[in-house]
Amino acid sequence: MDLGIKGRKAIVCASSRGLGRGCAEALAEAGCELVINGRDGTALSETGRAIRERYGVRVTEILADVSTPEGQAALIEACPDPDILVNNNGGPKFRDFRELDRAAILDGVTQNMVTPIELIQAVVDGMAERGFGRIVNITSLSVLQPIPGLDLSSGARAGLTAFLAGVARTLAHRNVTINNILPGKFDTDRIRSSFRFGAEKAGISVEEQAARQTAEIPARRLGTPEEFGQACAFLASAHGGYITAQNLVLDGGFFSRAF
Ligand SMILES: NC(=O)c1ccc[n+]([C@@H]2O[C@H](COP(=O)([O-])OP(=O)(O)OC[C@H]3O[C@@H](n4cnc5c(N)ncnc54)[C@H](OP(=O)(O)O)[C@@H]3O)[C@@H](O)[C@H]2O)c1
Repeated sequence: MDLGIKGRKAIVCASSRGLGRGCAEALAEAGCELVINGRDGTALSETGRAIRERYGVRVTEILADVSTPEGQAALIEACPDPDILVNNNGGPKFRDFRELDRAAILDGVTQNMVTPIELIQAVVDGMAERGFGRIVNITSLSVLQPIPGLDLSSGARAGLTAFLAGVARTLAHRNVTINNILPGKFDTDRIRSSFRFGAEKAGISVEEQAARQTAEIPARRLGTPEEFGQACAFLASAHGGYITAQNLVLDGGFFSRAF
């Protein structure tokens, strides 16, 4: 399927590994120019090289913490007029909520709520003026269903979702959309740290915890960053103009509900 975004410019935050990289690859496959980002220079340049070689698109690497004003400024400087913004960040560490002091709570809110809002503020008026914009936020299934140890992540991302629900509706008439993708369990470094946290709590091996968690998913497997990326690319595509303010759950059927 031609996604109709060949030559479009995309900023994909936190994209040297995992779900962000999946999104970057799918957008590159659709012919987008990319700005990719991460804090580890080796992983970032390896990803940049791999994407350039495989898809032949222009890729600019921004080595920065996306949660900092400097990191955000560097991303916007590298691409002042993006057509597509994928907001992503590392999630907070798995912790019992009692272990969170004020600084940790504010840090989590900064990462998963304030940062995407600031980046949207930086790009959205230009998108509206140009008559095309696609913003996709990687949030989490934990917005809908609590996950032990991730209360801060759930709260910050639910805040982001509510914040943007109104904002998205002010932009739809300019062909600017804002949607969230809610991953369930995807095969990335992050999910492996969740298996370690769960295994420790349950007093079982990490392998046993991974097997138990996977068995609970109707699809009986973890999702892949590639399939996550393809869903993101569709929301970012020319065909996605009538999809806005939605929360797309990608979880292999894990979150059980009729509607
Ligand atoms: N995997 C899942 O099943 C799942 C489920 C629900 C929600 N999520 C959420 O989805 C997001 C992505 O998860 P993932 O599984 O892809 O994680 P991951 O495999 O750990 O990858 C995270 C990526 O983000 C980059 N990153 C992290 N913090 C950053 C920062 N402050 N500034 C710039 N780049 C940063 C990492 O590179 P550096 O470390 O080099 O910076 C890496 O490229 C997270 O917020 C996670 O909580 C994931």
